Order: sequence, then structure tokens, then C-alpha cells
Amino acid sequence: MSGLIPQQFIENLLDRTDLAELIGSRITLKKAGANYKARCPFHDEKTPSFNVRPDKGFYHCFGCGAHGDAISFVREFEGLDFTDAVEELARRAGLEVPYDKAASQQIRQARTLTDALDFANQFYRNRLASPEGALARDYLAERGLDAQVIDLYQIGYAPGAGTALYNAASEELRKPLIETGTVSDRYGRPRDLFRNRVIFPIRNTRGRTVAFGGRTLGDDKAKYINSPESDAFHKSREIYGLFEARQALRRVDKLLVVEGYMDVIALAQFGIHYAVAAMGTATNQDSLSALLKQTRHLVFCFDGDTAGYRAADRAMENALELLADGIHLQFLMLPDQEDPDTLIRKEGAEAFERRISEARPLSRYLFDRMQEGLDLTLPENQGELRARVEPLLNRMPQGSLRNAMWQEMMRLCRPPWRWQNKTGGRDGYRSGNAGGGEPQERVQVRLSRNHMLCLAMLEAPEMAEELKDLCRQNRQLDKAAGFADWLSRQGIKTRRQVYQQLARSPDDQARFRSLFDGIEHLPAREEALDSARALLAPNDEARQKQRLRALAEKARDLNFADLSPEERQQLKASLAAGQGKHG
Ligand code: UTP
Ligand code: MN
Repeated sequence: MSGLIPQQFIENLLDRTDLAELIGSRITLKKAGANYKARCPFHDEKTPSFNVRPDKGFYHCFGCGAHGDAISFVREFEGLDFTDAVEELARRAGLEVPYDKAASQQIRQARTLTDALDFANQFYRNRLASPEGALARDYLAERGLDAQVIDLYQIGYAPGAGTALYNAASEELRKPLIETGTVSDRYGRPRDLFRNRVIFPIRNTRGRTVAFGGRTLGDDKAKYINSPESDAFHKSREIYGLFEARQALRRVDKLLVVEGYMDVIALAQFGIHYAVAAMGTATNQDSLSALLKQTRHLVFCFDGDTAGYRAADRAMENALELLADGIHLQFLMLPDQEDPDTLIRKEGAEAFERRISEARPLSRYLFDRMQEGLDLTLPENQGELRARVEPLLNRMPQGSLRNAMWQEMMRLCRPPWRWQNKTGGRDGYRSGNAGGGEPQERVQVRLSRNHMLCLAMLEAPEMAEELKDLCRQNRQLDKAAGFADWLSRQGIKTRRQVYQQLARSPDDQARFRSLFDGIEHLPAREEALDSARALLAPNDEARQKQRLRALAEKARDLNFADLSPEERQQLKASLAAGQGKHG
């Protein structure tokens, strides 16, 4: 098999490939403005000079000059030839590489579809800004949306007249508009699908419009209508708000999955930029996988009514198969009659973020739900609980989360006099914490201090030097101390070196593997580092100063803009303090 791959296909493939996701799945990227930065995978370096521009579709290394697009990245990184690299990207995009004419025809089609949708998007935005859009603007204002967020989400207005969009489109865009369902020709006459509606464009990760949602401004029976599926729009793959989230955030550590367009937008307006809505049913497996491709930490937000719980149950059940270690799912049930839009406007961002951080982890949600209506002091009900829970756990992949949940199930199914008797000693659920802490009454979802520190050192091995002595002072931190000692003795400075060293030495592997076994949910990097700092030196001034010095150095080396807002704050504070002393 070979032959020429049509240029059209290649362009379409590059269009559909999210370069940040592609490269980010292989090396760690850090967001910096519209760019992503990383340490270059093609040469050895300490400071990141490898830049990725997903919007432009290329990468460039200022250090070694490596430069190219998605195809050349895969070629270089995987050592593939051109055709195989195209095949690999096509596989990721769910496309078949066309080696014949008919197929390349189809591709050309898909390209013009997004062109037509982008045109429609611009049309609707212009209408909103025009005198004709006055009522729609009033409506948005009444719902509390400001100009900035309207712009950010490119909200538009579809006029009430039947063919406004169709009439505005040029001859060659009319057919693709019909093909995407943006204009219908059901009765042999063209008619705009969206009339007298507020328009929410749905954009793919490259910012191209793939579909629309429209909310009625009148009293139509359908409050919302959405574009039908087309070659440009595959419902279960698209995530509303993801493009905007990635524009706004340094990195997407977690996503809050809500139900509606207005929820996503209201949350963004209040500074919560990581809210998205799945275009399919958020809880089906395709949508779940699409979400998990973005981040390993999802918080699902549901109504607190019966329907909300039913949806949450479905999400929980469909997620089980996907729950590899390191994936963290949480459930946030809102008060009855509220959605995120109404709630955040009522109680503000801080209260809402508190809800997010307190959302129930999947493990707890599952046990809470399954225990409903059962009295676990009754042996019959213990059996019932096991009958409910066991088939669910069997759907999970092997791993420490599944083990921990299994033990939790066994604990709940045991007669209470045994598990309250802490000296019993035969309890499997005592998950080997050598420090001899209290037995776990619950599925362990908090990380121990040992774990937290080890994780932090895995993220930033250069901290080991600094941590080693501190850890030694506390007998409970024996594991962290051992790990720190090893890191510093091996002179390990990067996470990659940790893995390389472990791969090379079976002894070290055996020694440290268990360190990370008990960790069910990997916290985000910043979180791990923050907690480690907080744990070790709550009020140690010298240490604080040392961190600040390191920060200052980092700021000199890199760019002030690369610092997180929190780091910037710290640095400013320290500079101010320094001046005070000298002045
Ligand atoms: P809701 O009915 O909860 O609407 O639908 P909402 O998001 O709170 O909207 P506002 O606040 O009244 O404007 C939630 C989501 O379900 C889909 C839409 O995606 C909507 O955002 N939906 C709802 C439809 O597709 N069609 C409908 O008729 C209603
Ligand atoms: Mn609403």
C-alpha cells in the first residue's frame, strides 16, 4: 500500500490534529500565553526553549532549531517515515488515509464544512452587534453576561427572519451550510435552522466552528436546539468550552463538567475557566473518554434532584471501566432547583469553588449510593450491599483504587463488632502505613504525608536535597526520607531521570515501587508541591527565604510571565520586604 496521499487529506488531518494534545501526550507542556513550552525532546537542555503553537499548528525549538508540524513531530519523535506518521495521526483522528480519489473528495467536503460554519459564526456575531440584535443584547444583559464573556464565547444572534443566514452566504457556502444542517432544505426551500435565538458556537480544539447551540428568545417549544451531526460535528467527541478553557488557563489540571452552555459561561465570568459541557450525554462512554483525554481529573456537576442522581449514577457506572489508577473523578450534587449559573450568581465564586473542592470522590459516591436504604448491622443487608457493589468493582481495571474499594466493601460487610475492635489485627484494610496510624475507616482518598512528599519529589526531584534532612527529623516521614536520600545520592534532577534510574536498577525498583502504590489519585503538580512545602515548613522563615531566592532565580532565568500568579505574588511580596529592610 502506498501511493500519493492527497494534499487535501493532509491539510485536513493537520487541521484536526491538536498539536498541544499530540505533543502533550508525549512530553510535559507548560502553557505560556498562546504558546506551550517544554524542554526540547530533540536535544538536551535545562531551560525550556521548545515552543508549541497549537493555533498555528507548528513547533519550534530556539535551542536546536527543530521545527515542524504534527507530521514532522511524529516522524522525529517516533522515528517513522512520512506515510507511517500520517497513518498514526489519522488513527488518532479516527480517519482513514485515502489512497484514492473518491475519499479525497470527501475530505475536501469536510474542509468546506468548517469554512461555512465559521462564516455562520461570524454572521451571528455581527447580527448580535447590529441594531437588529438589541433585544438579544438586552436578554444577555438581563442574564448577567458582560461584554467580555460574550466576546470570549463568541455568542451571537440568529435573526427571526427565515433565511437571513442563507441569503447572506455566498453561492459556494450555501451547500455546506445545508449539509451541516445550519440551513435546512426539508421542504425543498432553504430555511435557517436557528431563528430568533441566542447562538452559542461550538468550537473544536483548534478554534474552528463545528456546530451551534441556540437558545430561544421567544416561547418556542424547544428551549435549545443544536446542530445535527455532520461530517464536521460528532457529538460525543466535542466538548463545549474546552477551546476557551485552554485559551484561558496555563494548564488544564481538571475540568468541571456541567450541563448547559449558560453554566459554562457564567462560571467563566466568575473566574472558573475550567468548566465545560459535553455535547453528547456527558455520561456516555465516548464523552467520558473524550473528557479523560484532556485531563485525569473530572468533577461532574449535577442537579440534586432525582434526575440528577440518576445521571450521576450513570456517569459513575460508565466511568468504572475507565478508572485506571491516577484518574480522579468527583461528583458535585447541587442544591435542588439550582444550576451552576444560578448558584454562582447567588453565592459567588469562592463559595462555589469550595463546593468543587469538597465534591465527593467517585469511591465515596458509589458507597454512599449503594448503602442507601440498607441497615448494615443486619447480615441480610450486608449481603445485599455486596451484591450491589461487587459487580461494579468487577468492571474496574486492576489497580490500587479497585483494591482499596474492595477492602472498603469487605469492611462494610463485616459484622460491626469486628471492625470496631481495633486490636483485632487480621484486618486486610489496614493499608500498610508503617508509621502505625489509625486504621482507615474509609476508603483512603487523602494522601499520607509520606506520599505527598514523594509525589512532590517526583515532580521536582531537585527538592530532594532540601527535603532530605527535614524528612529525617520526623520518624513518620521515613519513606519520604529514604526516597529523598536516594534521589540526592543519584544526583537525579528530572522526573525522567527517576524513571530511567528505576528502569536500570531492579533493586531500586523493588525498593521504591511501593511508594507510589497506595496513591489512587495523583494531585496536580502545583498542589503536590504546595502541600509538600506547607507540610515541611509552616513557619520556617529560613526555608521560606530559600524558596523565594529560588523563585527570584527562576524569574531571572526564564520569564516573569512563566511564573504562576501565586509565585509572582510571593516574589513581589519578598521584593517589597527586602526593600523595606534596606530603605
Ligand atoms: P436546561 O433546561 O437546564 O437549560 O438545559 P439551562 O442550561 O439552564 O438554560 P437556561 O439557563 O434556561 O438558558 C441544559 C442543557 O440541556 C440542553 C442544552 O444543551 C442546555 O444547555 N437542552 C436543554 C437542549 O438541548 N434542548 C432543550 O430543549 C433543553
Ligand atoms: Mn439555567
